[in-house]
Amino acid sequence: MKKFKRHLVTSALPYANGPIHIGHLAGVYVPSDIYTRYLRMRGADVISICGSDEHGVPITLKARKEGITPQEVVDRYHELNKKAFNDFGISFDIYSRTSNKIHYETASQFFRKLYEQGEFIEKSTNQYYDEEAGCFLADRYITGICPYCGNENAYGDQCEKCGTSLSPTDLKNPRSTISGSAPVMRETLHWYLPLDKYEQWIRKWILEEHTEWKTNVYGQCKSWLDQGLQPRAVSRDLDWGVPVPVEGADGKVLYVWFDAPIGYISATKELTPDWEKYWKDPESRMIHFIGKDNIVFHCIIFPAMLKAEGSYILPDNVPANEFLNLENEKISTSRNWAVWLHEYLVDFPGKQDSLRYALCASAPETKDNDFTWKEYQARNNNELVAILGNFINRTLVLTNNYYKGEVPSPADLNEYDRSTIDSIAACKSGVESNIEAFRFRQALAEAMNLARLGNKYLADTEPWKVIKTDPDRVRTIMYISLQITANLAIILEPFLPFSMDTLRGWLNITPLHWDDAGTAKLLKPGHKVSSGELMFSKVEDEEIERQIKKLHATRKANEEAVPVALPQKEDVSFEDFSRMDIRTATIIEAEKVVKTTKLVKLKVDTGLDIRTIVSGIAEHFIVEELPGRHISVIMNLAPRKIKGIESKGMVLLAEDAEGKMTFMVPEEPIKNGSPVK
Ligand code: MF3
Ligand code: ZN
Repeated sequence: MKKFKRHLVTSALPYANGPIHIGHLAGVYVPSDIYTRYLRMRGADVISICGSDEHGVPITLKARKEGITPQEVVDRYHELNKKAFNDFGISFDIYSRTSNKIHYETASQFFRKLYEQGEFIEKSTNQYYDEEAGCFLADRYITGICPYCGNENAYGDQCEKCGTSLSPTDLKNPRSTISGSAPVMRETLHWYLPLDKYEQWIRKWILEEHTEWKTNVYGQCKSWLDQGLQPRAVSRDLDWGVPVPVEGADGKVLYVWFDAPIGYISATKELTPDWEKYWKDPESRMIHFIGKDNIVFHCIIFPAMLKAEGSYILPDNVPANEFLNLENEKISTSRNWAVWLHEYLVDFPGKQDSLRYALCASAPETKDNDFTWKEYQARNNNELVAILGNFINRTLVLTNNYYKGEVPSPADLNEYDRSTIDSIAACKSGVESNIEAFRFRQALAEAMNLARLGNKYLADTEPWKVIKTDPDRVRTIMYISLQITANLAIILEPFLPFSMDTLRGWLNITPLHWDDAGTAKLLKPGHKVSSGELMFSKVEDEEIERQIKKLHATRKANEEAVPVALPQKEDVSFEDFSRMDIRTATIIEAEKVVKTTKLVKLKVDTGLDIRTIVSGIAEHFIVEELPGRHISVIMNLAPRKIKGIESKGMVLLAEDAEGKMTFMVPEEPIKNGSPVK
C-alpha cells in the first residue's frame, strides 16, 4: 500500500426518512467500520465520517403523507439511526446531519465559489408545473410511464423497475404526485454543472489511473462515460433544502445530490478545526464506502464538483458494494421487507457481533447476495459458537484448570509447534492484505482460519490426555494456544468489536497494536488470565422460525394492501383500438441481453416474418425455457432501439401489482399471425 499520511473514510449518508436495515449494514457500514478499525489499530491518522442526508424529495413526500413537517421526519430518523449505528459498534468519529447550520454554510459557500468562478451554466428551461398545487414538480414529485420499460409508476428522476435514470420530460403521461393532475410546462431558471467539460479528465482519472477499482465500480463508471456526460442541474424548485445562495433564486434549493456529499466536508469541519488537512493535503487518502446506486454520484459528479472547486483532493478508491436481498426478495423500506437494526436488537439482545459476522461473511461484494435467517443461524452456531467460541473457551478453561490461570512458560518446541506459529503470521498477513484490498469477506475467512487452526492444534495435541504423562509438553501446548487466542483478539477486533473487547477482558490485556499480531509472544509466562465464560450462544430453531413467520406476515400484509385493480384508463375509440395490430406468435429463440438484468432478446415467429423483440422479462421467466412458448405481440408498435438492439413490436404480458408477470397466450393452439381483436 502506498504510504499515506492520513485517511479520510466516508460512509454514504443515509436518508433520514426510514430506519437502517441489514442491507445498509452489509453494503456500506460494516465494511467501512472494519476498514477504519483496522487503520486505527495500525496507529494511522484516520477519521470516519457519516451523518444523515436530510434533504431530497423522499423526505418531503413522507412528511406530506404523514401530515408532519420535513424537519419532524428527519429529527425522528436521525436520532433512531444514530443510535442504531452506535448500538452495532459502527465507530464513526462523527454522525452529523445535513440540516445543521454548519452544513448550510458549507454547502452555500461551495456553491458560491463555483458560481463566482463561472463553473455553472445558467439555463431557463420548461419544466413541469402543478397548477393545482402551485409548484414545480422535481424528481419524485412526478410520475409517469417509463419510456424504456413501460413501468406505469416511474419517477421523474428514475425508473425503479428498469433502473434507468430519467428526467421528468422523459415520462409518458406525467402526473403530479401532489395533486394527481396532469402538469403543465412552465419556464424556470436553474444552474447546471457542465459535466461534459470534465469528461476527458474523468475518463483519464478513472479509466487509466484507477484500474485498481473494483470491477463493478469501474464498469459502471465506464458505461456512464461511454454514454457521454451531459450538463446536470444542481438546483431544484423546492422549499426543503439549502437555498440557492444567489440573487433571484427564491424558491430554489440545491439539488440533494449536490448538497449531500458536501455533507462529508461539513461533518469533518464539525469534528475538527483541522479538517482541511484531511480534505486538501494530497498526502491524505479519501475512501468512499457506498452502495452501488451511489456510484455515479461519488465517482463522477462529486469528483467533478471537487475538481471545479479546485482546492480539494479526490477519492482514491470507492469500494461500492452490490445489494443484499432478504430471503430472496429485494429489501424494501416501503414494503417493510427488511430486518431493521432496532428490531433485531430487541429479538437478539447482545448479539450484534453475530449479525456483523453473518453480514460480513456473505456481503454483496461482487454481486447481489441473499440474507437468509437459516444461514444466519448456521454462521452463528457452526462458526462463531462451534469454532471461535469453542476454541477460546477450551483454552481458557484448561489454562485455569492446569495453571490457575497463569500463562505457562513453554518447553522445547517441536516441528508442529513451529509450523503452527508460522501459520499465525500467515493468517495475520492474509487478513491484512485482504482488508487493504477491500475484500472483507475473504479477510474474515482468513481470520477465522486462525481459530480453526487453534481448534485443530488442540485436537491434534490432546493436552487433556498428555497432562498425565508429559506435563512439560502441555505447558508448550497451552502457551501456544494462549498466543493464538491473543492473536485472535487483535485480528478479529475490526470484525467483532464487542466480543473481542470481552476477550481482552478475559485475557487481561489492553487494546493492542495491529502489528503485535503474528507472533507467539503476546502473553508473557506468568501473566494472569481468567477462565472466561461462553462468548457466543446458540441461536435456536424457534428463534429463526419466529423471524421467518414475521416475514410471512409481512408478505401477507403486503398482498392484502395491494389494490385489487388499477383504476380504468381514459376511453379510446374503436378506431384507435383497431389501429393496433395484435397477433399470435411463437418465441423461437431467447437470450439475455448482456450487462442488463431484465432484458431478453427474443426471436419471434409472427406468421408474417421472424423478428427481434426486446422485452424486460428476464427476472420473470427462465430464459432457456422461453423458446416454443406461444405469445401475443403488438406488431406495429414503432420500432425502437433498446441497448443498441432494434426491437420491432412488443410482447403482451399481464402484470399484477406485486410485479408478477405472465404471457397473454391463446387458450388453444392457433396459427402464428392470427389477429387478436
Ligand atoms: N442518501 C443517499 C442514499 O441513501 C446517499 C448520500 S451519500 C452523499 O442513497 F454523499 F451524498 F452524502
Ligand atoms: Zn423503466
